[in-house]
Order: sequence, then structure tokens, then C-alpha cells
Amino acid sequence: MSTVVLRAPFDPISEAELQAAAKVLKQPEVKTVILAVEEDGIADFAVRMQFVKQAVRPYRRMYAAAACDVSGIRLDDALIDSERIVREGAFRKAAPGIRKTLAEGMLYLETVVDAHCKPHRASHSRSVADLCRTLANAHGLDEDKAWKMGMLHDVTKAWSEEQGRALLEVYAPEAVPLAPPVYHSFTCPVFLKTVMGIEDREILDAIRQHTLGDCTGPLSKILYIADKIEPTRGYDVSKETELAMKDLDAAFALVYREAEEYRERRMDG
Ligand SMILES: [Fe+2]
Ligand SMILES: [Fe+2]
Repeated sequence: MSTVVLRAPFDPISEAELQAAAKVLKQPEVKTVILAVEEDGIADFAVRMQFVKQAVRPYRRMYAAAACDVSGIRLDDALIDSERIVREGAFRKAAPGIRKTLAEGMLYLETVVDAHCKPHRASHSRSVADLCRTLANAHGLDEDKAWKMGMLHDVTKAWSEEQGRALLEVYAPEAVPLAPPVYHSFTCPVFLKTVMGIEDREILDAIRQHTLGDCTGPLSKILYIADKIEPTRGYDVSKETELAMKDLDAAFALVYREAEEYRERRMDG
């Protein structure tokens, strides 16, 4: 009977990696499998270690350890690459025991945004997220949730019209007749739910409402405002920003009206 040590960054531990470890554990000569967490990763070592401990909980003879303490075999590249797919947003492909933690937490959101957005869109998203956090703080709302919705609000914006329409035909047929630039506000909540496992109603609603402005709550208004007035947009928004810090409803009404006027001017021209 032997102990097998499998090394990887486990950044984070994926379902494929856990399944591979479980297969090794089933071999009759194997008594114990140790998942050894390597030093370097995007998430802190302690976090990745905790994830592995959570992931192996259903298995009696499978343990977590620090790779510097044990020698063993490194998992093959394809398995380690499955961690990247999780980091890029496929939280449902993480080991089952950590999926909820990923979906409800703040980890890897930078990686998700960089994987799905071109650089200018990624910096817009970060800027929206920062402003959402500032406005949430000013109005006593959940700052982390505000930052998260800001980061993720445009992650399906780069999809083609066909890709967006195909998804909407299944998940939100009522959105198909809308203008294609609006599609991403409907495809994004579907992506967040089905791929990332995010169920938070306020985040999903805010993102769904960020283009049409049919906002139903304060976080939704914050996202609508921040999307229009974040600093990288490059025009003077001092009046709107000042108002948004004091009175969310008044700022929303102003920004909404300005967006309507802009649309009308473009249609006239
Ligand atoms: Fe958008
Ligand atoms: Fe945006």
C-alpha cells in the first residue's frame, strides 16, 4: 500500500483535477492521496490550501499538504490548464466543494474580466467597479457587491450578435427584438448564472437593467450611473458625480435624461 503525492498550483482546484485524484485513490495498491499545493499562484497560498481542504472533504484517504513539504508527481499540463478555465470564469468547473465559495466571493474577478474583455473594456469595467464601490459606500450599501457587479457588467459585450441572439432565444426570448447593443445586458446575467454560478438577485438584476435603465433598486441605479459617468469616458461629469454622491435618485434621473437626449441627438443627426 502506498501514498501518492500529486503536485499542482491548485489555483483553484478544478473538478477535473479532483476526479483524477479520485481515480488514483481507487487503485488497489494506493492507500492515500496527498494533493500538494505549490507555492506560486494568483490566489494566495493559504486560500488555495483552504480550497483543497474543502474539496477533499468527501474523500476519506485524500489530504492537502504544502508542496514544499513533500515530493511527488506534478499533474499533467492539461489538468493544470483546467485551473485556468476556472479562473477565467467557469466556476462551475471548479471542484464541487468550492464552487459556492467562488460564486459568492470576490476572487479571480480580475482574471475573468481580462479573459473576456478587450483592454479598453477591461479598464472601463475596473473604473465602473471603483465608482460603484465609492457610491455604495456613500449610500451605506454593500461595497463588495457593488464592485463585483461593476467588474462583471460587460463580460459578454464582446460576443457577436449571432452568439448573443442564440443564447437569448433560449434564455430570454423577450430580449431578441431589442437592439443588438442591448443584448449583452441580458446575456451577461445568463453567463453569470450558468457558467459562474452567481445567483445574487441584486447583481443579476442590476446588470440586466444597465443598458435600458429600467432600474428596480439602488444598486441597479448605481451601476447605471457609474457606467455612464466613470472617469475613463473622458468628458466632464463633475456635476453628475457630485449629485450621485448625495442623491442617488436625482442623479439617476439626470443621467437617464442626458442619455435619452444624447440618443435623440444622434437619431436626428
Ligand atoms: Fe454595458
Ligand atoms: Fe459598461
